[in-house]
This record gives sequence, structure tokens and C-alpha cells, in this order.
Amino acid sequence: MDSPFGLLAELTYRCPLACAYCSNPLNMADYSDELATHEWRRVLAEARDLGVLQCHLSGGEPLLRRDLVEIVAAAHDLGLYTNLVTSALGLSRERAEELRAAGLDHVQVSIQADEPAVSDRIAGTRSFRRKIEAMGVVRELGWPLTVNVVLHRQNIDRVADVLALAEDVGADRVELANTQYYGWAWRNRDALLPSRAQLEAAEVVVRAARERLRDRMDVIYVIPDYYSRYPKPCMGGWAARQLTVTPNGDVLPCPAAQSLPLPRASVREEPLERIWTGAPVMTAFRGTDWMPDPCRSCDRRELDFGGCRCQAFQLTGDAARTDPVCHLSPDHDLVARAVEAANAQSRDEDPRLVPRPHRVRALGD
Ligand code: SF4
Ligand code: FES
Repeated sequence: MDSPFGLLAELTYRCPLACAYCSNPLNMADYSDELATHEWRRVLAEARDLGVLQCHLSGGEPLLRRDLVEIVAAAHDLGLYTNLVTSALGLSRERAEELRAAGLDHVQVSIQADEPAVSDRIAGTRSFRRKIEAMGVVRELGWPLTVNVVLHRQNIDRVADVLALAEDVGADRVELANTQYYGWAWRNRDALLPSRAQLEAAEVVVRAARERLRDRMDVIYVIPDYYSRYPKPCMGGWAARQLTVTPNGDVLPCPAAQSLPLPRASVREEPLERIWTGAPVMTAFRGTDWMPDPCRSCDRRELDFGGCRCQAFQLTGDAARTDPVCHLSPDHDLVARAVEAANAQSRDEDPRLVPRPHRVRALGD
């Protein structure tokens, strides 16, 4: 068993945005008893002792934690590389300067589109203008900046403009990630799944941008796995190199695994090392022994690890089945039917995009 390399510290699921593609849990009440500052300090120290090098501070919106600066300082003092994953709402100059002084290494800001009205509609909140201002502060303070854009049927046609915006704000890296259909995003799948024609057009734009920008900005493009022949090697394998700690201290191999029917493990009850090495939630799908056919006898089993357990569960109700994205899966028709419908549907027939209900009022409103 390897050591984990990255820790996703989900500090809170509270969030001022209401994104229609949100993949966070729907049962918010289960996570309202958030870890206190001293508990996060202990978790970070235990993670470092376990081998973690990178800490992604995420949510929800991590800026809603009043103790974010203290948590960043604790991670920094432990020698962890810290990345703030944020909507940027609440990133005032003063807060940014405090985070800089605490040692924050990197900032990743999400935008929903290049154009204010579209971005605000997808975010379910007036937020675009404040995001652009905050990205200016990030650059002024000299942080490396990643712009993250979740792509889908409603914004993928604007990918050239999205790339131009990332260039304009001086991003070092832009991540164009197609939607994963968990949580609230699952409810909106028919409004979010792009057509093949949309994807092909976007890929031409992305290829050209990569070439043109290769010395200035990294362009990461993650294709939607529904259109792939083989599934993604989700998280680099179950409990292989990454772990997630949720706001209430539950430990998971990936952020979506809270929906799986596995026994919970909490940093409030056990040391992280014991959870990583032996808790059923970690060992259930580690390695390849758990695999059914066709994965068990497939040459790719060490390459994609049978795909995504959370997606298998979402689509089939059984997390131990081959990811239905794989064309060899006996359940592949579940994905093929959704893709067929996305291609048959004209944009005029798209179902209404339903914003996720708000979990806090927008900061500054
Ligand atoms: Fe991957 Fe399993 Fe499909 Fe083989 S059968 S390609 S291991 S998901
Ligand atoms: Fe959980 Fe893929 S998101 S295993």
C-alpha cells in the first residue's frame, strides 16, 4: 500500500453559490458539526506523518471558515503545499493578504462562464464581477492562479471565450473539466450532458489554444467520460494516493464516496493512519482483488482500476460493478442511452437548469 500524496480538506459544505452542477452531498445536516480549528491542526499533522505533501483546502466555500488563515498557517508550518480551491467570493484584499502571510501557496478560482449573465445563471448567484476582481488580487499578490471551469452543454460552446478570459486574468493554468454527475449535478444531467458535436467543436478550440499558449498557460482539458471508450482511472485508484476529509471529520477515498453504503470512519474516533490502512471504507475497493468480470480478466485493470466506484453506484446501485462508462461493461447501455438522448435533443428542448438551493447568502450581498 502506498502513502497518500494529496489531502482534500473539505472545510465546510456551506457555499454562497448555487451551481447547477454541484457534486457536493445533498444531506447537508449530516455535515453541520464542522471540525474545530484544533481538530484540523491534528488532522493536518497526521496527514503529513502519513506522507501527504499537498493539501487542497476546499468546500463548499473554504473562505466561509473564519479560521481559514489559522488552518493555512498550520499546514504551511507542517511543510505542506497548500492550494485554496474557491469561488473567490469573500476573497477581499485584506483576507488575501492575511492568507499570503500565512503561507498559502496557490489559488484556484472557479468561474462558470466567460460572460457575466451566463456565469451568474449557472452559479445561481450574482458572482462574476467579484470573481474577476478577486482574481486581480490573486495576481497582484503574486500567487500562481488556476482558473477552473466546469464545462457542460450550457457553456461548452463558449470555450474559446472562456480561454480568452483565463488569458486576460493572467492565469497560469486553466482546467476545463467536464461535469461529473454526482450530487445535484445528477438531477440536472439531461440539461448538462453535451452533444458529440459540441464536444468535437470544443476539442478543436482547445487543441489550437494549447498550441498557441504553450509557453504561457497550461490548458488542462478533461473529456466527459460518458463519451470515452474506457473509464477514467478515478482518483488514481481507490484509496491509492488521495484522501478526503469532510467537514465533520469523515475520511473518504474521494469526495463523492459519502453516498456509498460503506461504514463511516471519522478522524474524531480514530487516527488517520489507522483509517488509511484498515478502515473498510478505504479497503473495500483498494487494489484489484474486489473486481468482478469483465475487469478481473481485463488487461486494463491496473490502468483504470475498473473506473469510478461512485459512478458505478450512481448508475447501477452497486459500487462493485464495472463502471458503466466502459464499453465492455454489461451495464454500458445505461450510459449509451443518456448519450443518445443528449445527441437527439436540440438545444431548444433542453430541460431547465435547476440551481442548487442556496446554503448561505452570497458574501457581500
Ligand atoms: Fe477498465 Fe474494467 Fe473496462 Fe477493463 S473491463 S477497461 S478494467 S473498466
Ligand atoms: Fe468516487 Fe470516482 S468519484 S471513485
